[in-house]
Amino acid sequence: MLAALIVVKSFNSGRPASVHTSLTSIMTAAATALDIIIMAAGKGTRMKSRIPKVLQKLAGRPLLQHVVAEAQSLHPRRVVVVTGHCADEVEAACAAFTLPQTTPLEMQFVRQEPQLGTGHAVQQAVPKLPDDDGVVVVLSGDVPLTEASTVAELVKACGGDQLALLTVRVSDPTGYGRIVRDANGVVQRIVEHKDASDEQRASIKEIYSGIMAAPAKRLKAWLSQLNNDNAQREYYLTDVVAMAVADGVAVVGHCITDALQVAGVNSPLQLAELERAHQLRQAAALMEQGVRLADPARFDLRDDVRGVLAELSCSTDVEIDVGCIFTGRVTLGEGARIGAYCHISNAEIAAGAVIHPFSHIDGGGDAAGVSVGEGSLIGPFARLRPGARLGREVHIGNFVEVKNSSLADGAKANHLAYLGDASVGERVNYGAGSITANYDGVNKHRTVIEADVHVGSNCVLVAPITIGAGGTVGGGSTLTKSTDAQALTVSRGKQVSIANWKRPVKR
Ligand code: UD1
Ligand code: CA
Repeated sequence: MLAALIVVKSFNSGRPASVHTSLTSIMTAAATALDIIIMAAGKGTRMKSRIPKVLQKLAGRPLLQHVVAEAQSLHPRRVVVVTGHCADEVEAACAAFTLPQTTPLEMQFVRQEPQLGTGHAVQQAVPKLPDDDGVVVVLSGDVPLTEASTVAELVKACGGDQLALLTVRVSDPTGYGRIVRDANGVVQRIVEHKDASDEQRASIKEIYSGIMAAPAKRLKAWLSQLNNDNAQREYYLTDVVAMAVADGVAVVGHCITDALQVAGVNSPLQLAELERAHQLRQAAALMEQGVRLADPARFDLRDDVRGVLAELSCSTDVEIDVGCIFTGRVTLGEGARIGAYCHISNAEIAAGAVIHPFSHIDGGGDAAGVSVGEGSLIGPFARLRPGARLGREVHIGNFVEVKNSSLADGAKANHLAYLGDASVGERVNYGAGSITANYDGVNKHRTVIEADVHVGSNCVLVAPITIGAGGTVGGGSTLTKSTDAQALTVSRGKQVSIANWKRPVKR
C-alpha cells in the first residue's frame, strides 16, 4: 500500500499548493486589473556586501525571487521591477529566476538613478502601467516572506477605489514608518521614524510594512505631488497617505498579526533571523504531517545552488536527525531514516533506506539525479554524486564515492572506494580501496562489473573493461583487460619470500 506523500515546498512560505485555489477566488472577486511594482533599487548599505541586497539569499533563493514569485502567484497583468544599485546584475539575475511554470509572468524593468526614495522609485515605474482603473500593488524587494494570500486580501480591502496599507503591530517599531490614526481610529497619514515626534515614536506601535494597494489613477496623481521636504531629503511613497485623506479617499489599514510576513532584511543579523524563522515554519509544516524531526530548530530546506526550487516530499514514518540540509527536490520514502548532518540534494530515497550521519548526496541540477533503492544502507561519510542509481538493499559504506554509476540489488561497496561511470551487477562485492580508473586524461570510459563478481581490496579497474559474471579479482590487482565469467584474475607480482633475511645494520 502506498503511503500518502507529504510535501513541503517553499513557495509562499511553505504553504502547500492548495492556497492557490483560494487566492484565485479572492482575486476574481476583486475583479479589477492588477499591476505590481517591486522596489529593488536600494543599495542595502547595512549588509556591507558587494552583492546587492535584493540578491542576498534566504532559503537558497534570492530575496527578490521570493517577491517575484509571490507577485506571480497573484496573476497580475504585469510586474515592474525598479532597479538602480547594480541594476545590470539585478536585472540579469531576475531574468534567470526559476519560477513555477503554472502562471505566465510579464516582467519589465525600469531604472531609478539616482535613488531618491521610495516615492521616487514608484514614480519611475508608473509610466509603464496602463492608464485605466486598475489597482497597483507596491512590494519591496527586501521583504521576502509575505504570503500571496495576504496581498490578495489587501487588494480586496482596496476594492479598486480605496488606499489599503498592510500594517502590523510590533513591540519595537524603531526605524519603521508609523501609522497615525485619529481618535476614531481612522488612518490620517504615515510618519517616518526619522520625522516622528518623541511622543509618536514612543506611543505608536502600528507600523507600515512597505506594502500597499492603491487605485492606479489616484496613485499617479498623488505621486506627481510628492516633495522631499523631510528629515531624509527623500521622496517618500508614504506621503501619499495624507494626500488620499485630503482627497477624501478612504484609507484602510489592514493590520495582520504575523510580523514575519512583513519583516524586511537590512542587515546580516536580520537575514539570519528571518532564515531561522522561515526554516522553523517549514519544519513545523512537515512535523504537523507526521515527519519526525529530531529538532525542528536544526533543519534546513533550501533551493539548490543551480536554482532547483526546494521541495521535500516525505512518506509516512520518515525520521530526520539533527543538522540535515535538504536542497532542491528530495523525496523520502516510507520509513526512510536520515542520520545527523547529512546534506541531500535532488535525490529520491526509497522506503526503508537508511542514510547514516555525515553523508553527502548530490543529484546535480537534475531533480532526481540520485536514486537510492528500498532498504539500502548509505554511509556514514558516503558521497553519492550525480547519476548514482542504487537498487534495493545496496550498501555504500564510509568514504565511498559513487558517480554516474548504477548498482543493482544487493551490491555492496563498504569501505574507501570509487565507482565512476560503472554498471555494477546484483550482489557484487566491491572491496575496500578499489577504484574504477574511468578517465584516461581525455575521455571517460565505462566499467561493467557483472552479477556476483567479487572484487578484492585495493584493485584498479582500468576502463573500458568488463569483469565477467561470478568472477573474482584478487586483491591488489590492476586490470586493463576484460575477464571471463567465473574466472579468478590476479595481476600483481608473485609473492616471494627470502628465508632468514638479514636487515642491514647501521654503521
Ligand atoms: C520603508 C517605508 C517605511 C516602512 C518600511 C518597511 C518609506 C518612505 N518608508 O522604509 O514606512 O515602515 O519601508 O520596511 O517608504 N528603494 C528603492 N529606491 C529608493 C529607496 C528604496 O527602490 O530610492 C527600495 C529598496 O531597495 C527597498 C525598498 O525600496 O527594497 C524599501 O526601501 P528602504 O530604504 O528599506 O525603506 P525603509 O527606510 O525601510
Ligand atoms: Ca527597509
